[in-house]
Amino acid sequence: MSGKFITLEGIDGSGKTTQGFFLKNKLEEFGKDVLFTREPGGVKGAEEIRNLLVQGEKDRWSNITEILLFFASRRHHLEKVLLPAINKGKVVICDRFTDSTIIYQGRENIHLKKMIIELNKSVIGIVPDLTLIIDIDPTKSLNRGLSRKSDEMRFERFGLEFQATARNGYISLAKTDKRYQLIDGNNSKDKVHQMIWNKVSKFLSLKL
Ligand code: TMP
Repeated sequence: MSGKFITLEGIDGSGKTTQGFFLKNKLEEFGKDVLFTREPGGVKGAEEIRNLLVQGEKDRWSNITEILLFFASRRHHLEKVLLPAINKGKVVICDRFTDSTIIYQGRENIHLKKMIIELNKSVIGIVPDLTLIIDIDPTKSLNRGLSRKSDEMRFERFGLEFQATARNGYISLAKTDKRYQLIDGNNSKDKVHQMIWNKVSKFLSLKL
């Protein structure tokens, strides 16, 4: 792999998408060839699977079916978008990746978590070079999420407790590997961008 693979993680409404665009623009100012993409989705077939996952009733899928749908979407995205871009030397920024599945689908059940880790090894096989976790107060982020007019509310329907558990999951995950960088998302967008840029510019050895 010649490019770099950076992922953005955090609970719903944490500002990942806004920060992803800011980061892409900044990296382009430094002459980097950047691709900003997202999961679930990022390419036609995977976006179709996304609709099955983020719309509708919260209980529409069993735990295992839901995990398999996320991995079907991820595998397609990997083949069609992520690997080609990384192999061309691009800096790929992805809004969510396998860490989201570990946090959201593996949070309360050790067997499901193990299944996710095994599936990831066998059907995905790549690990991000850097993962920025935007940490935010779940009350704030859920209000932000709920105020958006969108069909994609399935995960918001799980409520505050679900988001609070996910937040704690991310905080614990951040301690497990040095690729994780926890960013305090309870600040202004510009401040959060500065904190992210600090980490990314150091990581890519870019002169400020
Ligand atoms: P997004 O709103 O950040 O694009 O993500 C859509 C929803 O999908 C979000 O509520 C989190 C959820 N999700 C999972 O539950 N597991 C996953 O593996 C991914 C990628 C997203």
